[in-house]
Amino acid sequence: MTARIVADGNRREEPAQGAPLLSLRGLVKHFPVRRSFLSNETFSVKAVDGVSLDVPPGKTVGLVGESGCGKTTLGRLAIRLIDPDAGGIFFEGREITTLAGEELRRLRLGMQIVFQDPYSSLNPRMRIRDIVGEGWLVHGIAKGKALRERAERLLMRVGLPADAADKYPHEFSGGQRQRIGIARAISLSPRLVVADEPVSALDVSVQAQILNLLRDLQDEDGIGYLFVSHDLRVIRHMCDIVAVMYLGVIVELAPAADLFREPLHPYTRSLLSALPMAGGGRREQIVLAGEIPSPIHVPPGCRFHTRCFMSKPSCREQEPALEERCAGRFVACPYA
Ligand SMILES: Nc1ncnc2c1ncn2[C@@H]1O[C@H](COP(=O)(O)OP(=O)(O)OP(=O)(O)O)[C@@H](O)[C@H]1O
Ligand SMILES: [Mg+2]
Repeated sequence: MTARIVADGNRREEPAQGAPLLSLRGLVKHFPVRRSFLSNETFSVKAVDGVSLDVPPGKTVGLVGESGCGKTTLGRLAIRLIDPDAGGIFFEGREITTLAGEELRRLRLGMQIVFQDPYSSLNPRMRIRDIVGEGWLVHGIAKGKALRERAERLLMRVGLPADAADKYPHEFSGGQRQRIGIARAISLSPRLVVADEPVSALDVSVQAQILNLLRDLQDEDGIGYLFVSHDLRVIRHMCDIVAVMYLGVIVELAPAADLFREPLHPYTRSLLSALPMAGGGRREQIVLAGEIPSPIHVPPGCRFHTRCFMSKPSCREQEPALEERCAGRFVACPYA
């Protein structure tokens, strides 16, 4: 297995054999929105606007960036919860971009999601054993007494008592509910789990426990994670590789250790300037000009130029490609 990061801009070719667990190639997702409820005029929200990214088996690839930059949309595209407008999705070397019906249902055995909100993502009227065992029922793996026993073992694996199986979601704290959400996600032994802000709705005091549970499960089962967070400390704790997103595109992609030691893209530099460095101390704080632009009106050229402290006139003209700067490090800025 190679841990090489492949990021080839918008090219749409199939990944090589012996390939990553997940490969995204030139993915695009635009959402049409009406200007107002009185008007028929529509705009498109460029939520994901040409993203290529690989997740190697058993590794954690982080998606980080400000609210609205497209992290959740990309995570949902990756596991076919929503359909892309363009681009390709490959899972274990096989194209899954347009799978439907029974084939798509079987794909769910291999890829799952943990949601941000452990309150709304669990059906309040279902017992925990039926929540975590739903996949077993659907796929004919277990039912009745066997399902119940399996559910108890699974709940103990994620750090809950076996008798949690008979209870309902409201009987648990936020951290416990997220353990239930994780149990549901791993119930079918997936090779890929998308974790979308899995701890951001939780108290800081329980965040580390949930993150450590995710890491333990990865060590035991070799799960690959596509890990979404806007919290850089969480990303630093969890990820092997980090993709920094800005307005629907990846602006920097690098092994986590390299990225946190020396961020290259001006956007990444500004994000990290707020964070204490690994050896203590702080970088010089870089405060960005203005607000993040609307993904409806993406600036021309480099989409970051309106807020960039290094911006040059040429940045308004041409959109920079995500290019490999040195081994495994990709940056979408010619001046970085
Ligand atoms: N179903 C939808 N219809 C219209 N617009 C959408 C839809 N889903 C997402 N968007 C828009 O697409 C953009 C990207 O949203 P997304 O949820 O992927 O961002 P995010 O990076 O996950 O943000 P956050 O950190 O707040 O979770 C946003 O502008 C959002 O409003
Ligand atoms: Mg999100």
